[in-house]
Amino acid sequence: MSVTLRAALMAALLPWLSLPAFAGGDPVKGEKSFKKCMACHTVTADGASKAGPNLHDVVGRKTGTLEGFAYSTVMRTMGEEGHIWTPEELDLFLENPKKMAPGTKMTFAGLKKPEERADVVAYLISLHPDGVAAGTAGEAAPGAAPEAAPEAAPETAPAE
Ligand code: HEC
Repeated sequence: MSVTLRAALMAALLPWLSLPAFAGGDPVKGEKSFKKCMACHTVTADGASKAGPNLHDVVGRKTGTLEGFAYSTVMRTMGEEGHIWTPEELDLFLENPKKMAPGTKMTFAGLKKPEERADVVAYLISLHPDGVAAGTAGEAAPGAAPEAAPEAAPETAPAE
């Protein structure tokens, strides 16, 4: 990745890197891990949904709302109740999809390693960096931990 692109990416990710769960999340590694998801998910803009919905702009998207995809009741209900895919909520979901969303149609065991989840979430953010701001501007996800609120950007860039 070029230095400029990487710098831009870092700037977009900076507010989130201050959060423990995503500290050091590497979008490049995340892209590799995302191979595990590709059987069921596309990530290109306007990509078709496969067994699972397209994830291009999933960060900041209201849960269970991609048009044309037949979600499970639990996913639809989460969205109706105002749940949004913030990086924190994605982390929680990817750790154990069935535990966070009992009855989900996503038959995936989960990513047990926190670093791998942080990488995948960083990758998803990198696809559509605006989503982080959009998803957290108005309504916070219900039940989100208080520290999930975006904090002021740190003065110094975190060490790599
Ligand atoms: C075996 C197929 C399959 C695999 C593998 C899979 N998913 Fe899914 N995913 C689904 C399905 C099906 C849904 C819809 C779930 C529902 O309606 O309950 C979903 C839903 C999601 C959602 C919610 C999207 C929305 O619009 O609300 C996210 C985020 C997600 N998956 C991320 C991932 C990531 C990241 C991976 C890889 C680590 C992954 N998935 C692997 C099938 C899969």
